[in-house]
Amino acid sequence: MDRLMIAPSILSADFLDMGHGATLIKESGADWVHVDVMDGHFVPNITMGVPLVKALRPRTDLTIDAHLMVSNPLRQIPWFAGAGADIITFHLEAVTEDEAHEAVRMIHDAGAKAGASIKPKTDVSAIRPFLDELDMVLVMSVEPGFSGQSFIDGSLERIAAVKSMANRIGHDILIQVDGGIGLQNIREVAGAGADCVVCGNAFFKAGDPLSFPARMREAASGK
Ligand code: DX5
Ligand code: ZN
Repeated sequence: MDRLMIAPSILSADFLDMGHGATLIKESGADWVHVDVMDGHFVPNITMGVPLVKALRPRTDLTIDAHLMVSNPLRQIPWFAGAGADIITFHLEAVTEDEAHEAVRMIHDAGAKAGASIKPKTDVSAIRPFLDELDMVLVMSVEPGFSGQSFIDGSLERIAAVKSMANRIGHDILIQVDGGIGLQNIREVAGAGADCVVCGNAFFKAGDPLSFPARMREAASGK
């Protein structure tokens, strides 16, 4: 396995001290800053949006990974790309098949990498028509909407299924997994095929966030 990538979710940082959250992520040796965008419509919660990405961009040289849990990704994609997001992930449940192809085109035209996500109850085959154009598939391991939930049983099989679909088409595609991931289950999640894991609570509530990514990578490799 290549080096496991860790993407702490800034949603679990102190909202009155986001700069500190970004610094912690950088200094911990994590790979990406995951930004959970919720619109109160696609998901019940409302969190953060374009202004946070704009504010983060000059503060970090890490990849900014925007996870759009919104009903109208086509409208918002150009804004997030313009604000400096490097990877933009939309939900397949929010769009038609034609719109999903259009979303990927828009993200690529804006110079960013494109991800598509599926919720836990969405059949993994929904991703198949897009595999050869996507840079990343995000497999949700909790129902999107809140941090701090428990990893849903059955997610490992879904990760493995997406991984084997991706392998079959033979195009380099990252598998990201998001929700309820920490030291207790990283070995199984990585073993099922995750290349990148999102950690909200496990990172920010860890006694020592600065050593968290290294401990995760070690646990993933079974040491
Ligand atoms: C859920 C979000 C996740 C979440 C991760 O809708 O997409 O990124 O904040 O948080 P933890 O790791 O606490 O489950
Ligand atoms: Zn997320």
